[in-house]
Amino acid sequence: MADFSQTRSLFRIPEGVIYLDGNSLGALPLAVPARVGRMIEAEWGQELIRGWNSAGWMVQPRRVGDRIARLIGAAPGTVVMGDTLSIKVYQALAAALSLNSTRRVILSDSGNFPSDLYMAQGLVRMLGDRVALKVVEPEEVEAAIDDSVAVLMLTEVDYRTGRMHDMKALTRKAHSVGALTVWDLAHSAGAVPVDLAGADADFAVGCTYKYLNGGPGAPAFIYVAPRHADIAPPALSGWMGHEAPFAFDLDYRPGGGIERMRIGTPPIIALAALDAALDAWDGVSMQDVRAASIALSELFIAEVEKRCPSLRLASPRDASRRGSQVSFRHPDGYAIMRALIARGVIGDFRAPDALRFGFTPLYIGEADVRGAVDILAEVLDGKLWDRPEYRQKELVT
Ligand SMILES: Cc1ncc(COP(=O)(O)O)c(C=O)c1O
Repeated sequence: MADFSQTRSLFRIPEGVIYLDGNSLGALPLAVPARVGRMIEAEWGQELIRGWNSAGWMVQPRRVGDRIARLIGAAPGTVVMGDTLSIKVYQALAAALSLNSTRRVILSDSGNFPSDLYMAQGLVRMLGDRVALKVVEPEEVEAAIDDSVAVLMLTEVDYRTGRMHDMKALTRKAHSVGALTVWDLAHSAGAVPVDLAGADADFAVGCTYKYLNGGPGAPAFIYVAPRHADIAPPALSGWMGHEAPFAFDLDYRPGGGIERMRIGTPPIIALAALDAALDAWDGVSMQDVRAASIALSELFIAEVEKRCPSLRLASPRDASRRGSQVSFRHPDGYAIMRALIARGVIGDFRAPDALRFGFTPLYIGEADVRGAVDILAEVLDGKLWDRPEYRQKELVT
């Protein structure tokens, strides 16, 4: 098993905290504050507007995209950063629909993240109901892929349970009936090995604030397969995706390749934070991360099932069908999670009853898992969660 003690020393975890929520918001890499400070002082402060050229701000979305490409099995020049994941979902879906415009159906599943479905619903309305969104159960996706489908839009790893779709098999099936694919990698990038090129995926999108540790609201990424990159029509045709933004033409002409998926001015401060965060991945193999993540998750499941019989496993038992998170169900899951957080074990809760725990080998080890289960067992055995203040719902769960 690879040794992650070196990467662990690159993160700040507050004293007394066991952090099992890197699947929601990654921990702070120690390199980030200094890098962001430098960017602000030396680049913004000294270079002012010249920074777009002298500090390379203009090419930052592509440069950082290339660093993420390595982690998701994509070739250099196929990934670009910017905007939020919801926007990238819209962009990818709109482009895929345009490339397959004789078909009517967007196929997705009920395990998809609601925002992806909401964005699809908005797009359907924009298109005057020329297309329709069909949502099936995750187990029914494969059978529902037929020649009416324009685009198969799925999140590879289910945000609630960690259940993982077989990207390669579903992409192959989609292509066999002439459908295109949009994969949401929010819970995959930095969590499990992803091979976009090997799976022959058409479009992919993802966020960088979870397993990639870019910080709250860090910019999203979009991948377009090289075969589509020069022909995919951008629905959100902003000036940064124009062939020549500084020609200030009145008419939009899409830029070459992945550049056309840029929209507006990139968030340079946030990109500096993400760029520094990605240093922690240098020299790290996703296969090693996967092996460590499975070992931690298996240990967690075994210990919880032994010591906390009132919790019911919501995630697939087969590790190969799971991402890097484990969920357990309990009717009082919310109060239990609040009691855990009050004792320094940080996971999160997803309605109606799922307690989620994320495993991030870069900064979480076996001692954390054992310590978390000790506290979880204590909270359940002593019914320590059964207090009115733990039932009070906060704005973010
Ligand atoms: C799978 C998935 N898709 C989309 C989103 C929405 O991302 P954003 O809020 O960055 O637009 C999330 C957020 O957690 C997510 O988990």
